[in-house]
Amino acid sequence: MIVEQNVPLQAHNSFGIVAKARQLVRVKDEDDVRQLLADPELAARAKFVLGGGSNIVLTGDVKSLVLKVEVMGRRVVDDGPRAAIVEAGAGEDWHAVVGWTLEQGLPGLENLALIPGTVGGSPVQNIGAYGVELQDRFESLDAIDLQTGKIFTLDAAKCAFGYRDSVFKHQAGQPGDLGLAGRALILRVRFRLPKPWKPVLGYADLERKMKETGISAPSAQQIYEWVCAVRGAKLPDWRVLGNAGSFFKNPTVTPDQCSDIIAREPNIVHYPMPDGTVKLAAGWLIDACGWKGKSVGNAGVYEKQALVLVNRGGATGGEVVTLARAIQTSVYERFGIRLEPEPVVV
Ligand code: EPU
Repeated sequence: MIVEQNVPLQAHNSFGIVAKARQLVRVKDEDDVRQLLADPELAARAKFVLGGGSNIVLTGDVKSLVLKVEVMGRRVVDDGPRAAIVEAGAGEDWHAVVGWTLEQGLPGLENLALIPGTVGGSPVQNIGAYGVELQDRFESLDAIDLQTGKIFTLDAAKCAFGYRDSVFKHQAGQPGDLGLAGRALILRVRFRLPKPWKPVLGYADLERKMKETGISAPSAQQIYEWVCAVRGAKLPDWRVLGNAGSFFKNPTVTPDQCSDIIAREPNIVHYPMPDGTVKLAAGWLIDACGWKGKSVGNAGVYEKQALVLVNRGGATGGEVVTLARAIQTSVYERFGIRLEPEPVVV
């Protein structure tokens, strides 16, 4: 285990914000964590677990000890009649693992293609796209407790998945609360890919692709290619234009609130949810407030998708946060809705 000093983080956050880790340790396996915990000074430090950096806004140098997750490995754990179970190291690139499962003839993750970040970040954020959420394909994960060095396994129930939410995004509060933010490092994640494979095609963008191409029974590979094409057309490539995907969650309101808003804004994009609430498209709300293409300093709102904030070159985390707050204020003033950011401000 090597403790690196003053490590530039620009290449390790998808916003491409310039910042440093005062101290950084690369974690290739559980032994690296155990060695670190054996050092009383390092063990006592506050820790920040860094995966692909695709869901963070860095507002300055990181003073906590940065644990850069580089646990690799992919394997098919079980290829049974009702499901295949595959496992990947937390440091593996998410999109590469999706491609690898398809190459193994094990479909199920294709709707989640091209999502930036690492395997370890996928359950933290309960990533989701085009009608599939990680929790729909999740089997279990192994993590290491950053206080005791003990390895533990969590099933889906223990991960407490919600919309872009899990136990890993919550601090421990009351005794008994299993908030694991900053307390655990995910080592490996296992996915359950049900058999027989069923395509998930309910999302409007995929229905459009079916109509355009005349393909009514696409293969998993075809869906993978469609998803890549849709994402490529709508979302900026973070390697070219720094961003963290959707910056805000899509808010939910009660049916009464929704009718009230529809009376004033008949075109509002909204989707009824199975639990009776109504989900509103945050991108539409921001767009309606005229934010598309606007900037604060070098941070801006993407021209093709108002839900995505971008780094136009040299943006600071402070500029991103200022822009985000201004958007929240204008959406609140016009619609009475508070938008909640997806990324973690560090
Ligand atoms: N819209 C506008 N103007 C905009 C942006 C969107 O009017 O500037 C409208 C669109 O026309 C559409 C609706 O808003 O009717 C929803 O837009 P879209 O289909 O692009 O999806 P989204 O709600 O913006 C969500 C996820 C994405 C995910 C896509 C596809 C959230 C916060 N975002 O975006 O996830 O890829 O659906 O499933 O749930 C991410 O979380 O980082 C992310 C990219």
